[in-house]
Amino acid sequence: MELGQIINVEVQKLNSEGLGLAKFNDFVVFIKDACPDDVLKCKITDLKKNYAVAEIVEIVSPSKFRVTPKCKLQKVCGGCSLQHISYNEQLKFKKVMVEDTLYSILKEKIEVKFPITSGDNYNYRYKIQYPVRSKKGQTRILAGYFKPASHELVNIKYCPIQPTICDDIIEFIKTEAEKLSISGYEEQAHSGILRQILLRVSELNGDILVLLVLNTSYPLDDIYKTEIEALSSLLMAKFSQIKGVSINFNNSKTNVILGEQNQLISGQNYIIEKLCGKEFKISGETFFQVNPKCADLMFKYIKDYIQSNYSMPTLFDAYAGIAAFGIVLSDICSSVTSVELNKSSVLKAQETIKMYDIKNVEVVASDTLKYIDKCKKTFDITILDPPRKGCDEAFLSKVLKLTNKTIIYVSCNPKSLARDLKFLLNNGAKLISIQSFDMFPNTPHVENVAVISLQK
Ligand SMILES: C[S@@+](CC[C@H](N)C(=O)[O-])C[C@H]1O[C@@H](n2cnc3c(N)ncnc32)[C@H](O)[C@@H]1O
Repeated sequence: MELGQIINVEVQKLNSEGLGLAKFNDFVVFIKDACPDDVLKCKITDLKKNYAVAEIVEIVSPSKFRVTPKCKLQKVCGGCSLQHISYNEQLKFKKVMVEDTLYSILKEKIEVKFPITSGDNYNYRYKIQYPVRSKKGQTRILAGYFKPASHELVNIKYCPIQPTICDDIIEFIKTEAEKLSISGYEEQAHSGILRQILLRVSELNGDILVLLVLNTSYPLDDIYKTEIEALSSLLMAKFSQIKGVSINFNNSKTNVILGEQNQLISGQNYIIEKLCGKEFKISGETFFQVNPKCADLMFKYIKDYIQSNYSMPTLFDAYAGIAAFGIVLSDICSSVTSVELNKSSVLKAQETIKMYDIKNVEVVASDTLKYIDKCKKTFDITILDPPRKGCDEAFLSKVLKLTNKTIIYVSCNPKSLARDLKFLLNNGAKLISIQSFDMFPNTPHVENVAVISLQK
């Protein structure tokens, strides 16, 4: 096989990144935008020792699972690489992908329950985060997602996985920012002011927060103040759904999206969202699940599990965010300790607790590892909901010591879940079940809830 060679193949399945996997003379070939059962004419674009990468030249015979994507930019944007595959087939892929990932690390066949979905595979994403760029020497502001595995921006005007009003708001920000001479970020030169546009929409009532990430440090300099205040006033006047505009200061030369400091420019810094019958105050910079309808199903699932198996247990809610688990589960637990690093999230959690006059939830502002090092208590149940990278072994060892009965591990990354699960199972824990939730339709991502028993 050589670079540029044209080959004909039949796609067997998708790999864990959602690329089509085919074999040509027993050599593995990965193909972008492919669908299981497609017969394709492809061109080899990259050749490695154990596999090749190819692009589609012609679909010789399309798979019966192919559908027309709603988004015309689907092939260039890194967002929704599964949009051309029927939704049921996407769900089947996710189940098998998680099972294969677990098998590759645990060397054991584990059944993953078919993904639970809200049924909405479009207009489901209520948190939008677009990087902003301007090209060198140009004033035009571009905003959208990066092409896969690059920092090349795709300027997006319409994205079908988010509420349609978000497209209008982002276009308005781009146009008005240009008129006000607010420059877009230039990554190479680390210059320009507007770095990210972040929108948070309430699924409950349609209220919206705008958070503009600026390439500058706190406090806001007079040279930008007038323009940013003008942009904020225009936004609030044009869209009645926008309840507040804030800025976040981030002048670091890293890929980290948000800096430490925020400043409210107009309106309020929170909107209300609902989970399992409880209302939460959320802001642009606090964590909240991007797909509230599917999140509601996941929270109900966990609540039902605890209620069916335990009577008023004690709960450790690690990586708590706005203490969504802690607060939702406070009715069926005797006491809850929620631990979270982000100060804005801790503040919002405390406001919700006060609003409901909840007496049995303590929210601790701390690194979970530091907290657990000093913790003298034990808990019946621990909920672990870490960021994508998962937990480290020192932390998991302590969790095993301070949890009496069950760990419920919530994960958006099957690879780190499998690695952490391996450590827990090798140290005496027993896996009860893994249930997938399709929190991110049309993408290869999936959320999983693993129930792990520690009872002898
Ligand atoms: C996946 S989110 C889960 C939030 C929450 N459980 C929910 O469902 O809304 C992970 C959270 O962990 C927090 N976090 C990350 N590293 C942390 C650490 N070392 N200690 C405490 N919290 C941390 C993040 O700020 C974020 O809020």
